[in-house]
Amino acid sequence: MNDNIITYSSQDIPSSLFKAIVVPRPIGWVSSKNEQGIQNLAPFSYFNVVGDDPFTIMLSFTRKHLDSAHKDTLVNIETTKYFVINMVTFDLYHQMNSTATSIPNTESEFSKFNIPYTMSTHGDVQMVANSPIHLECTYFRSVDLPSYDATITNRMVLGVVNMVHINKHILDVNGNLDYRKCPLIARVGYGDYLTLHPDNFFHSKKP
Ligand SMILES: Cc1cc2nc3c(=O)[nH]c(=O)nc-3n(C[C@H](O)[C@H](O)[C@H](O)COP(=O)(O)O)c2cc1C
Repeated sequence: MNDNIITYSSQDIPSSLFKAIVVPRPIGWVSSKNEQGIQNLAPFSYFNVVGDDPFTIMLSFTRKHLDSAHKDTLVNIETTKYFVINMVTFDLYHQMNSTATSIPNTESEFSKFNIPYTMSTHGDVQMVANSPIHLECTYFRSVDLPSYDATITNRMVLGVVNMVHINKHILDVNGNLDYRKCPLIARVGYGDYLTLHPDNFFHSKKP
């Protein structure tokens, strides 16, 4: 037995500590639309790419939304089957954070927070105009995840990336993403974020 090691069983580990361990998490700022045509926008850091050819992404939903069991984004994706991931740069942080508040599904975050938008190519979904990268996605499948609280649904959604729109001004002369022009942000623990910057990168050659 090593006195330096603290061991938690999964139910006991502080959630804030666990979320500080698995970092950084990219932020998928997801726009979607409900069956009544109301546009929705909310951020999710349980977001990542999980497959390629075709690129496939996951989003995961936890806890409740107001009085309903599911967050609007989850309901919208499962019913209308189309959504957009807007990548978040440093200058968009405040807007992104404001859209994490729960508002009724009869109201759109785009109008409530005056967020400029353009339209997606398919699916009639609004996209954040000032986000330099948009991933248009088609719903693929949902997977129910374990939950210690029977009243809470934890569910992962998989989507296939249909189309990627990139503002050419964030690319360098070789067509590569230039993070100086596109400082994407990501979640680390305890309410902190990091900004991607090449000064913090190191380069590795494949073995
Ligand atoms: C940076 C950030 C990351 C978040 N990540 C998640 C997440 O991965 N899963 C989740 O269920 N909620 C997450 N939230 C909370 C949702 O954004 C919030 O519940 C939002 O109101 C959901 O909106 P909706 O009901 O319109 O979908 C996150 C909030 C912030 C600020």
